[in-house]
Order: sequence, then C-alpha cells, then structure tokens
Amino acid sequence: MSYRPTRVRIQFVWIFLATVCAALLGFASVRRYRHAAVLILHLDQLEHRTSKLTENPQQPKTPSALQPGPPSTDAQEGDLAARSRMQFASLLGITNSSGPRLELESEKWKPLILRHCTEDMPPYYAPCLTKRFPNLEYGEEVVYPDFEAALPGFFDEASAELWVFTNYGPDAQGQTGANKRVVLDERQGRLAFLGLRGQNLVFKNVRYDDGVFPSTWLGDSSHCLGHMTSTEGLHEQGRQPPPPPQQQQQQEQGQGQDTEVEVEVEEAAAYVTPDSERYQHWLDHTTKPLMQNAHLITANTVLLPGLTLATKQPIVQTMWGWLPHFNKSKMAGASGALRVRRLLTSCRVPYVHPYLFFRLQEMVLGPETPRVPLSQRKVVVWYSRSSNDPSRQNRGREILNEDQVKAAIEKLLQERGLGERLEVHPPTQPPSDPLDYVRYLNANAAAMLGPHGGGLCNFKWLASNTLVLELMPRKWISTPLYEESIGHGLNYWVDLLDSVDSQHNMHANISNIIAMLRAELGKEPVRGPIIRYRYDWPAAVEDAVGQEPSHKPYFGSLKLKCCNSLQGMPGWEGLHVLPGPR
Ligand SMILES: *[C@@H]1O[C@H](CO)[C@@H](O)[C@H](O)[C@H]1NC(C)=O
Ligand SMILES: *[C@@H]1O[C@H](CO)[C@@H](O)[C@H](O)[C@H]1NC(C)=O
Ligand SMILES: *[C@@H]1O[C@H](CO)[C@@H](O)[C@H](O)[C@H]1NC(C)=O
Repeated sequence: MSYRPTRVRIQFVWIFLATVCAALLGFASVRRYRHAAVLILHLDQLEHRTSKLTENPQQPKTPSALQPGPPSTDAQEGDLAARSRMQFASLLGITNSSGPRLELESEKWKPLILRHCTEDMPPYYAPCLTKRFPNLEYGEEVVYPDFEAALPGFFDEASAELWVFTNYGPDAQGQTGANKRVVLDERQGRLAFLGLRGQNLVFKNVRYDDGVFPSTWLGDSSHCLGHMTSTEGLHEQGRQPPPPPQQQQQQEQGQGQDTEVEVEVEEAAAYVTPDSERYQHWLDHTTKPLMQNAHLITANTVLLPGLTLATKQPIVQTMWGWLPHFNKSKMAGASGALRVRRLLTSCRVPYVHPYLFFRLQEMVLGPETPRVPLSQRKVVVWYSRSSNDPSRQNRGREILNEDQVKAAIEKLLQERGLGERLEVHPPTQPPSDPLDYVRYLNANAAAMLGPHGGGLCNFKWLASNTLVLELMPRKWISTPLYEESIGHGLNYWVDLLDSVDSQHNMHANISNIIAMLRAELGKEPVRGPIIRYRYDWPAAVEDAVGQEPSHKPYFGSLKLKCCNSLQGMPGWEGLHVLPGPR
C-alpha cells in the first residue's frame, strides 16, 4: 500500500524538476534573445519585428566590423533593410559579443536611418522613391543630426569679416552651394549645419557603364555630391530583361567580339565622384559616399570607382586598399559595360558631417584614433610648398620667409620646454608605407601649419582638437579646407595674407603664428568645442547627454546663455579674434 504512492511521488518530483529546468532554459534563452534584440533596436524605431532580427544570431560578427576583413557573404543577402540594420549596428560595435562595448566618436553622431516607406513619410524620402521607380529595389534616407561648428580663429577683425562674408555671406554658402543649408550665426561665432540628409539607393537590373555618372564637376551641379545629382540614367532600365545565360558565359570567357556585350554582376557600388583619381578629391569627395553606405557592402559587392582602379593616382589606389570593408578581389573596377543585378549609389551625401569623418578614421586607423589625447602629441608639422616635391602638381603659394618662420617656431618650442618639436613635411623621402605615415600624423601631430594646398589635406587623419593654421591668399579665399577640418573637430585658424605675385607667394606673419601657438598649442580650443550638438530643444539634449563625460566635447549647456542679446554677455560668443598686440 505504501509502495505505490512513493513511486508516484518520485515520478512527480522528476516531472517537477524537468519542468523547472525547461522553464529556466526557456527563460534564459528568451533573455539572451531579448538582450540581443534590445541592443539592435537601440539604433532606431521598431520598424522590424524582433524575431526577424534574431533569426540569424551569429550575424553580425562584431570585431570584424571596425577592422574587418571582407564582410561575410551570408549577411542577409535577401533583405536589404535587415542587412543594413545589422551591419550598421555591427559597424558601431553595438553588438560586441566579444567584450565590453566601446562608444565610438562616430556613434555619438550616428544618423537615423529610415528604411521603410510609411504613410507619414514625404514622397521624396528614399524609401518612398521606390514607389516612383519600379527598378529602385531599396532606398534608405539617412537623417544626420544637426550640428554647429566654430568659425575659424582669426587674427584681426577686418580679415574675419572678409572671410565670413566671402564664404558664408548672402551670395555664398560654402560647399553646400545653392542649397544654402549652412546658417551663419555670427552672434555665437558659429555655423549651424541643419537638416543634412543622405540617400542610399539600390537599383536592380541596370546597365552600367562609365557614362552613367559624371566624372568631373558640372556647372549645373549634377555630378555626385552636387545638390542636383540625379539617378535619371538608371530609372527606366529595369524593364529590359537580363541577357540570356549563354551570352553571359561567352562574355566571361572573353569570347564576345561585340564591344556592346555586358558582363553580368550580382552586386556593385558606384563611387564616381568628381576628379576621384586625385588624392585631394578622393579624400574630400569619394570618402563620403563610401562611409555613408559602408553598412550595405558585402563580400559580393563589386567596386565601381569610375573606370578601373589602375587609372587612379598611385596614392589613390593605395588608399582604396585601406578600406577594410571591401573584398579586395572585387576592387579592380570595370572597363566596359556591366549588367548589374543590384547597383548601390550614394551620391546624395553631405559634404560635412562628423559621422562620416570619424567613421573614416575609425575604419582605416582604428577605433581610438579620433580621440588621441592632445597631451600625447608633441609634433608641430609645417607643410612646406618650397621644397622640390615631385608629387606636387602646381606651383606657387610658397612662403617666402619660411626659414624665419621655422626658426621662430623652434625657438618658441624650446622655451616652452614641453618636449614639443617642429617637423617640416612632406618628408624628403616619400614614406615607404603611406598608411604608416598617416598613422604617425594621427598619433603625433599637435598642430599642422602651412599655406593653402594639398599637403594640408593630410589633416583628414588628425585627431580631434589638433591646431590647424591655413595661410590663405587674401584674394583667393575658399572654404573647403576649413569645412574639411571642422568636420572632425580640428581647431582651425586662418590668416589672410597679401600675395606678392600672381602665383600667390606670400610672406607669413610670424608674430601671428607665434602668438597663436602660445595661446592654443596643446590645449583645447580657447573658443570652446569646435563641433557641438544642435537641436531645436536644447534642454532635451541636456537631459539626454548633459551629464555624460563622453559627450562633453560636443555639448555646452545653454543655461544662462539663451537670451542674452548684447555683446559681451555669455550667449554672445562672437567671432574669435586672437587678443593682444603682436
Ligand atoms: C569589443 O570587445 C573587445 C574585447 O574586450 C574590445 O577589445 C573591443 O574594443 C570592443 N569593440 C567595440 C567596438 O566596442
Ligand atoms: C601681423 O598681423 C597683425 C594682425 O593682423 C598686424 O597687426 C601686424 O601688423 C602684422 N605684421 C606684419 C609684419 O604684417
Ligand atoms: C571575395 O571575392 C572573391 C571573388 O569573387 C570570392 O571568391 C570570395 O569568396 C570573396 N570573399 C569572401 C570572404 O566571400
């Protein structure tokens, strides 16, 4: 009698234990998936069902994101929105499974990416353009957070007014041209970059050749990055059927004699920007679409740089090789016509946004490179245009009193006794590895000074807050170097000088240079953070990041500053002119 109930009890105990184990296991896995999903959803709204995102938990592979080899081919090939989302999270390290998460500088400026057309979206936003063009397979609208940038440091009032008027006066708006997206705020001594947008567009079944995108600047601004850039050449094409398979095979074996034959390509991305074969314009143009759509690239993506890579300057070919997110064997470019099943184009991309600038440094040089502390950097770089540099393509803009400038800087650095030193660049021997050279600049440069010219473009690789001085002919004022340097928070100064001849050779103003170095070298900019968040409701920014040390460089509280309308009051920062007699 007592035997049976005991067995029953024992069985109950087992059933109970098994149930508890099952419940615990279930709970743990739900928690794990929830954890992963929450991390990914952190990026933007709940536009996808979480189940979809966690279907493929081994994707994305985080450490491969920042210094990746070619991305894996299995990255959600089918659904471009899901691919975009997972790879974007991966680039920012948000899904770091191998260790603690590092907050990147680019993440602090990450754009909102809209991937689906919804009933409340303007019809010209990229996801809704798919409704207009049957062969537009996918479009994403890249909504960049607004920011404001400090105007340059100046040496006298008259030059400050002239520079501001010439570049951002009523008739001119910097590189953004006729779109006038830059708002000049002289009261705060800042430019506000508002409402910047980008579009990543993927067309299907299109014929591509080098006529599709212009390879140089056009007066009507319809080149890549120009504000009238258009995708018209791709709209109607999707209706043509792809060539029959037999013909493809012949092309691949090189048997086709017909020059019109097209090579079949699964996925390709076009980066045909003006003068993209040249060092300077690869840096200030091509890198921007490259960064805006980095999260859409896979190991299958064929690179289309305009013609073939071999037609570019050797340094440009080298720099293409620095990009970690392309499959190297897909990088030759194309010399003939292609039939592309998916063609990615991102010509609608802002010239200037910290996300794009920091992203480039992080991908090429490493995650910490935008924020190398100033205290570790001891080199003042003088970019000379007076040496016999064979790589320089144009002459002029030599500094005629260069020897005196160098002597004065050396004397100052010695007096300071902080271990700082002057170096004259470019080096007499071209560096054997240009990547080592830019790494060196990133890790060591505290300042970079010199006349307007290509050498200064190397500041693209400098860490935040590096002091930059451009010696600019007063009769030839321009914005690009300024905008390229404040885009990642460099402490940019400009001295306008009178040209002594038609080649714009100039005498540097030595007392200005020395006074600037005394005031700013090795320090955070006296006029405050170079780039700051800007939002219609500053108190919301304060609530969100006001107390976070990592965001401090991009945030200045507006409390007690908001409504001062008189010069000299805290809210009136004004143009920054180096004080004191010189
Ligand atoms: C991911 O974790 C590893 C291991 O701790 C760390 O070295 C790496 O910097 C992290 N990456 C990011 C982007 O957070
Ligand atoms: C240098 O610039 C300052 C301020 O712009 C000016 O007062 C001074 O006269 C200049 N010196 C020379 C030698 O031009
Ligand atoms: C890179 O491309 C080559 C040639 O198309 C291909 O064979 C290889 O699998 C790709 N690499 C990866 C990691 O998928």
